[in-house]
Amino acid sequence: MKTFLYLGFLLLTTNITTAQNAASGKNIFEAKCQRCHGNDGTKGLFGAKNLQTSRLENTELTAIISKGRRGMPRWEKKLSQTEIESVAAYIKSLRK
Ligand code: HEC
Repeated sequence: MKTFLYLGFLLLTTNITTAQNAASGKNIFEAKCQRCHGNDGTKGLFGAKNLQTSRLENTELTAIISKGRRGMPRWEKKLSQTEIESVAAYIKSLRK
């Protein structure tokens, strides 16, 4: 019974975390993207593209984030579609 309750609690907390991530592209960016792209999108580690000067539109953005490209990791197994869309919206907000 105790194990059962514990599992239920774990499931509940994971769901809450997922909902929060989906709500905030900024959180996802800070957790998964910042180490290469930098907090303002310009760091360029491993040749990461400058996200402030990127002019990709939504379809291409979500495709690159999902499938990756050269040094850019693929995120389709680690982020939900909604999370990919919210992080794409967030990086567009970094543009100057
Ligand atoms: C391990 C380092 C690394 C991480 C982590 C990383 N990226 Fe990248 N990213 C790159 C590199 C390198 C490129 C350039 C790929 C190329 O040259 O084709 C890139 C390119 C991109 C591009 C294409 C921009 C353009 O105009 O061509 C987008 C969009 C992007 N990254 C978004 C993200 C997002 C969103 C995340 C987090 C979910 C992320 N990246 C995490 C390294 C990284």
